[in-house]
Order: sequence, then C-alpha cells, then structure tokens
Amino acid sequence: MTYAERIGALPLQEAPVILGIESSCDETAAAVIRGRELLSSVILSSASEQAKYGGVVPEIASRAHTDAIGEAVGRAVEEAGVAPEDLDAVAVTYGAGLLGALLVGLSYAKAYAFALGVPLIGVDHIRGHMAAAYLADKTLEPPFVTLLASGGHTAVIYTKSYTEFEILGSTRDDAAGEAFDKAARVLGLPYPGGPSIEKLAKEGRACIPFPKMFSGGGYDFSYSGLKTAVINYCHTKEQKGEPYSRADVAASFQSAACGALAERAVKAAKERGADTVVAGGGVIANGYLRSLLQAECGGAGLKLVLPEKKFCTDNAAMIAAEGLVQYRAGNFAGLTLNACAHIPLGKKGKQ
Ligand code: KG4
Ligand code: ZN
Repeated sequence: MTYAERIGALPLQEAPVILGIESSCDETAAAVIRGRELLSSVILSSASEQAKYGGVVPEIASRAHTDAIGEAVGRAVEEAGVAPEDLDAVAVTYGAGLLGALLVGLSYAKAYAFALGVPLIGVDHIRGHMAAAYLADKTLEPPFVTLLASGGHTAVIYTKSYTEFEILGSTRDDAAGEAFDKAARVLGLPYPGGPSIEKLAKEGRACIPFPKMFSGGGYDFSYSGLKTAVINYCHTKEQKGEPYSRADVAASFQSAACGALAERAVKAAKERGADTVVAGGGVIANGYLRSLLQAECGGAGLKLVLPEKKFCTDNAAMIAAEGLVQYRAGNFAGLTLNACAHIPLGKKGKQ
C-alpha cells in the first residue's frame, strides 16, 4: 500500500491532534493542537545570531534550523502530553520563505508523517498568520475582515469562509514590516526593526507630519513614500547640522504606519457589513497598533480578535491552526510536496 493509499483510507477525526512545523525564516518552531485547543508551542530563534549581520542570512538560518528542528519537535510533542502515535496529521510550512530554511522543516515533517503513517499537510505561511486567530478565539467563524501585516505582506482581506478569501487591498510596494525594518536601519536601530522602533517610539512624540500611505481610494497601501519621507527628514537634518529626536522620528513613523492599517481595516469591515476584524502577522505584535485597533474597532462597534503577540510573529501554532482548516477540507499533500520560495497572496487550490 502506498503512502497516499494509506492516508486516503484513514477516518477523519472530529478534533484531530495536529503537529505544526515552521521554518520559513529565522524561527524554528513546532506546536501541537487538539482541535482548536493549543497543547504546546516551542519557538527556537536564531534572531540574535542574525542581528550581528543586520538581517537574516539564509545559510545561517538553514544551519540553525538543522540544529534546532529535532529539539523543537521533540519538546512540542512532549510538552503537549501526547505520544507521537497520538498525532493525526503533520502540518508544515512549504512556502513562502527562504528555500533552504523551508526544506529543513519540510523534510523533517515528511519523514515524521511517513514514519507515523499520518497525513502531511502543506501550509502557506501567510494563511498560517491569518489562521492564528482561530486559536485566539475558539468561537471565531468566518465571514470577517482580516488585517494582515507581516514582513512580506500587507493586506486587507475579506475572509468569506475558512478557505475562501477576497483581497480587498494590498501594498503596492513595501510591506508594513519591511517599512519598519527599513526605517529602523535609517535610525541605526538593530534587527529586527519593528520591536526596535516600538521601543524607541515610547521615548518620543508623534509630532512629525509624515505622509499617510494610502494609494488611491480603495484599500491599497503604499509604504515607499513614508519610508522616503523618513530618510529625507533624517538626511536633511544631518546635512544642515540640525539636531533632531530619533525617538520622535520613530514615534511619528509608527503612528503613520499603524494609523493607515487600523483605518483601512475598520473601513473595510464597515463597508462589507462584517461585525468582526481579525489581525495577524508580525507587525500586529506592535503594542501601539494593538491599542489603536482596540480603540478604533471598539469605537465602531466591531469585535476584534488579536492573537497574543507571540502568535503574531512566526510560530508553529498558527501553522497547526491552518493545518486544521486544511485537514477539515481534506486537503492533504503527497510526499512529493516541494518547498516554494514565493506564493502569491490569494493563491487558490491544493498543493
Ligand atoms: O510575520 P513575521 O514574523 O514574518 C513574516 O512572515 O514576514 O513578520 C516579521 C516582521 C518584521 O518586519 C518585523 O520588523 C515586524 O514583523 N515586527 C514588528 C514588531 N515585531 C515584529 N513590527 C512592528 N512592531 C513590532 N513590535
Ligand atoms: Zn511570518
């Protein structure tokens, strides 16, 4: 009996126990869920190693994943209080991300699923960020509006069902996280830029009128104008020899960058008649943005589902959560599943 035949014959569980594995960038993560209940989550990061180089060096990330993957999965299964044989499926990020990094998690997941004789589920990393909310609020059901803001994507999405999405607007250039990272570099702050900007912004005032990054009348964003405005502001001050507050620049940048995100998400929910806004992606870990979303959604009478900060940045619980969606849709991958560096936002269909 082939692997595919064996998997096809398995009865689907009501609340399956799913192991999630994530290795697309610099976090090696593993987590176990039972239905929508989180049993364990382990995140081993090479970010401090990467910080020495001011960004993620792919080969260093791949080596770090190779060193950490066994420990991450072993600990996740042990801390979940389950035996490997209790697992009903293995969900793994197959893209988008750094190819060598993805291959470490994907190869491990394939071997694990094959050895246990359970289905393998290939998860799109971004869908994972969007699914983190299902663990944060176990009663959450589509439809709702999703605000996605990560290192590679910024979008306002109408989540029609667990598997159907309509992209209302996305970034025309830099993603929100990328803008945080670039602004941090201009200010001489360490990688990763988002948390560094957030920290420095606490000491400053949002008093510099940087432009809002709306593009057109729809829901699209443009961050390159804001990034250029930050660069120009700092360079002009430096050229003129005028002192300026880096903390004020950080606070003003953060206010402009986050204001547009919250505003667009609330506008989309109102126009779509959705009663709930869901958020996901690394930038959603930003405390200022979280408060803004809470205030604006509260003011508009909208329910807001915000995953805990550690489930906004890269983690495997979100991969297991999207794995559950795919499990229930019967969307299993074969052992030929390959890693994929780019997956367009809104890609439909099976892997
Ligand atoms: O979702 P994520 O962890 O990885 C991707 O899938 O891209 O997002 C990483 C991005 C980085 O650009 C990082 O600077 C940003 O999220 N980020 C933040 C914060 N924490 C992470 N941005 C703003 N404030 C934060 N606290
Ligand atoms: Zn991510």
